[in-house]
Amino acid sequence: MSAPIQFHDRMLSLGLARVAEQAALASSSWVGRGDNVAADQAAVNAMREQLNLLDIAGVVVIGEGERDEAPMLYIGEEVGTGNGPGVDIALDPLEGTSLTAKDMPNALTVIAMGPRGSMLHAPDVYMEKLAIGPGYATDVVTLDMSPAERVRALATAKGCAPADITVCILDRPRHEEMIEQVRSTGAAIRLITDGDVAGVMHCAEAELTGIDMYMGSGGAPEGVLAAAALKCMGGQIYGRLHFRNDDERGRAAKAGITDLDRIYARDDMVTSDVIFAATGVTSGSLLPGIKREAGGVVTTETLLMRSKTGSIRRMEYRTPLSSHDK
Ligand code: FBP
Repeated sequence: MSAPIQFHDRMLSLGLARVAEQAALASSSWVGRGDNVAADQAAVNAMREQLNLLDIAGVVVIGEGERDEAPMLYIGEEVGTGNGPGVDIALDPLEGTSLTAKDMPNALTVIAMGPRGSMLHAPDVYMEKLAIGPGYATDVVTLDMSPAERVRALATAKGCAPADITVCILDRPRHEEMIEQVRSTGAAIRLITDGDVAGVMHCAEAELTGIDMYMGSGGAPEGVLAAAALKCMGGQIYGRLHFRNDDERGRAAKAGITDLDRIYARDDMVTSDVIFAATGVTSGSLLPGIKREAGGVVTTETLLMRSKTGSIRRMEYRTPLSSHDK
């Protein structure tokens, strides 16, 4: 029997950047057109097509949904040519479908890849999340602290006043009490309407983005993608799955999760080295969005990262859209 093919992340990462880029390009004509579904579908089609060109034996572990809900890039779908290493893939072809449809900041295409078994098979339920950037002791903030305690603990660790901390939170009625508590400390809040993968990633570049901490509940699949990003950029993220009914608990059982109250740290969600690519669709503080020039020339910017080395590459790609099928 021949030995399994190794996951050589260095060269594969360049292919991964192209996958993210092409999904972004495909969704770009839907920016600001008010059609979430069409924007998402365009990104899904392009991401799948490009993934299937890569020499990998890939399995989607975080994808568009269960097989019966999503015809493409569903959980368990095999992607790639099959001639290459066995890899797990976590993806969100368009993270921020509403942001794209409304031309609001921080819509991204996102994909992470690692060896088989490297990423938590998170069911499509909510996850309570808490994230901070690099340079802090482990557990300086925890999910068991109240929102106000987290702000005070982070301010002490950072050597500043709570009023100098900025927290990013999804603007949802379910977060009203959390928002109130954070405000009671004097901290500032950057409310976002969608896109918590970007929200978490902002913490890793606090100097650039002005965000020190992310907290609140959002999609569990997005939690794993955010953990993959922080594994490359540095920083901590904690997640606890949140189940609203038996159907959701059933999804966890199907994904092999038995401890429903477990708190997952970053390296529990992403257990070995991964590569991660994200391309900006609409402009935000992490990445510029797609620029279109007269004559159909487009420019994208992709963040490409490898956790093994901590390397971060920003790749600008400028191309006439008409050259696409060549
Ligand atoms: P989509 O782009 O897939 O619609 O997800 C956007 C998003 O804002 C995620 O970033 C976040 O995790 C989730 O939706 C929050 O869910 P909800 O809108 O139910 O609060």
